[in-house]
Amino acid sequence: MGLAGGGAGAPTTARWLALHCTPRGRGAGAHPAYTLVSDVTAEHAMVEALSLNDRRLQLQLDLLNAPRGDTQELLDEGLAAAIALTASQLGYIFKYREAEQQLELHAWSRGAMDLCRVLAPQTTYDLAETGLWGEVVRQRRPIMVNAFAMPNPLKRGHPEGHVALERFLSVPVFDAGRIVAVIGVANKAAPYTQTDVLQLSLLMDGLWRVLSRLEVEAAQRATAEQLRQSQKTEAVGRLAGGMAHDFNNLLSVILNRADFSLAALEDPHSSPPRGDLIEDLREIRLAGDRAATLVRQMLAFSRRQVLELTTVDLNGVVSDFEQMLRRLLPEDTTLTVSRFPELWETVVDRGRFEQVLVNLVVNARDAIDGTGRIEIATCNSVLDETMAGRLAGARPGEFVRLTVSDTGSGMSQDTLAHIFEPFFTTKPAGFGTGLGLSMVEGLVQQCHGFVAVRSEVDTGTHFEIYLPRGRTAGRTVRQPRPDRGGRWPGVSALVVEDDAAVRSVLARILEGAGLVVTAVARSAEALAAAEAATRPIGLLVTSVVLPFMNGPELATRVTRLHPEIAVIFLASCADTRLIEARADGAGPGVLLKPFDAGSLLSHVRAALADGGRPPTHEEGQPDAGGTREALVEAGLHRRLTDALQKARLDDASRAVAELARVAPASAAALRSLLEQYDYDGALRWLRDAAPQHEVAP
Ligand SMILES: Nc1ncnc2c1ncn2[C@@H]1O[C@H](COP(=O)(O)OP(=O)(O)OP(=O)(O)O)[C@@H](O)[C@H]1O
Ligand SMILES: [Mg+2]
Repeated sequence: MGLAGGGAGAPTTARWLALHCTPRGRGAGAHPAYTLVSDVTAEHAMVEALSLNDRRLQLQLDLLNAPRGDTQELLDEGLAAAIALTASQLGYIFKYREAEQQLELHAWSRGAMDLCRVLAPQTTYDLAETGLWGEVVRQRRPIMVNAFAMPNPLKRGHPEGHVALERFLSVPVFDAGRIVAVIGVANKAAPYTQTDVLQLSLLMDGLWRVLSRLEVEAAQRATAEQLRQSQKTEAVGRLAGGMAHDFNNLLSVILNRADFSLAALEDPHSSPPRGDLIEDLREIRLAGDRAATLVRQMLAFSRRQVLELTTVDLNGVVSDFEQMLRRLLPEDTTLTVSRFPELWETVVDRGRFEQVLVNLVVNARDAIDGTGRIEIATCNSVLDETMAGRLAGARPGEFVRLTVSDTGSGMSQDTLAHIFEPFFTTKPAGFGTGLGLSMVEGLVQQCHGFVAVRSEVDTGTHFEIYLPRGRTAGRTVRQPRPDRGGRWPGVSALVVEDDAAVRSVLARILEGAGLVVTAVARSAEALAAAEAATRPIGLLVTSVVLPFMNGPELATRVTRLHPEIAVIFLASCADTRLIEARADGAGPGVLLKPFDAGSLLSHVRAALADGGRPPTHEEGQPDAGGTREALVEAGLHRRLTDALQKARLDDASRAVAELARVAPASAAALRSLLEQYDYDGALRWLRDAAPQHEVAP
């Protein structure tokens, strides 16, 4: 039973009384004989305090356990808990900045928002301008006012439209002895008590601890992100630097060799030795080849290479490659291979994937000093949300997993953070370009997979390639083998390419093969030429990307005028989307830049003779006849075999370039095998071409 006491106008004080009545008589005639009244206000307060304590603990637990995104959410929830705990109607949380002596509003209860009619509420206050509510900071203690309407010299009045206050309680929040915030609640139906003060202080104390932890975590995340950004900048710098270095070397060769030849030919008083001219041109050609390889590598890690996607059984790839991989390893390194018996299929560019395998194994080999073990394993892998969450870049799903682990040197965390960056290498100059893993990651991501890596210094490294389980829909982009010559006298061809130098090269190659060429820069000119033609045009060679109307659209319009026309698209990396949309294996051919006469003419042959069917592998097989002597004479056989066995593409390319001087056709054949990383094919080719005593074991 609650009783209100106190005179009119004075604040009321509730007392709790207990009545104990002892009846006299029985049944209907019973009536109280005496009544004992005792004041139980203290006991009642204790019970209330205990239940409030329980509530506060429950609210604190809820605050701790609720998943939340940011500190503001926590503050809003904390304020709501404080209002509920003190049975108040309104509340606020201000953060206090001691250095500036300023209070900044951080949370403001819904109820107050609905009631507040202040037109432009202020959110930052100087402590000096605050009234009663600032006392909490000035006096460094809780302030409780249960009769707000009563006059108080500390009050400075509210702005017009402010919520009417009846009761008010505010407590300071301390952190290491400094006030960091104040919370205020207002308009409880009953008066605020010391229990409210205690529980509110405890609640805010707990809240601030969680808040501080969240703020520290957020700051750590921001620092990590900053670091990541600066590492990215560093990586881009390294990439640009690496590219610039390699291309500048190649350009130095091209520019100077071209100048030598020009100077010699332009001098009217001397006739340059033929041999010198040939040598200059060959060096230019070689530099061009190396630049093309470099561009291909860049495209691989920028995930923009054109892939020949097919359904692949990785066990098959591993089996086919096992022999060759063993040849890459020194005697005291053991290679074990374990194939998962019922491995799912996946979709990759098989040729490029072989390169992934070679690079991972070569890296493992290089990390092993002395005796060591490399293990290749395949497995089916189903990742759920939790498992995927543990691997960077992963997502849930069904994957085919290839693992390459070694007992080598392992990597420090610092090295590990950079391994996928192009041109990052810890190998001595001349031993690593630092492009291997960036290509691996690029290819795997382009195939919608991801790479996971674990490494421990002095223990070893464990690379995992995850590729999604699946089959192809059958669409692939195929590159025909280089052409061994072809003549199409009198066939008229329309060439559309906006780069004048490339256009002129195209025209020259095609004219050299007997075609009658009209070469234009724009699609409108091409359409006009197609309309004006008095006889059927047999071949359209068009760049995929053209201003105003792209190559595929142009081809559609020209085909309407010349239904029998064969089409070849010229593409570079950026056009892959357009190409993949059309390349279904039987449609128009797609020739990738950079091209040479061999590859262009091979596409022409495919387009004119087979309606776009790419030549078969057998058609493209190199003819070893006549090469034997050249190889032996030039001492190239041993060097080539060695380079191929060690998968040193650069060395092999150099040897092939030298071979080109004495046997250009054979060199072209070998180059084509190298470009597809078909090292075993190249070794077979060499075996067939060389005399028995030269054959490597
Ligand atoms: N299995 C491994 N064990 C230890 N370190 C490795 C391993 N694989 C890669 N690394 C580290 O990652 C770096 C980058 O590897 P990446 O394959 O990209 O380039 P590279 O091997 O140095 O040169 P490239 O592959 O172009 O010849 C290596 O230089 C090496 O420091
Ligand atoms: Mg490597």
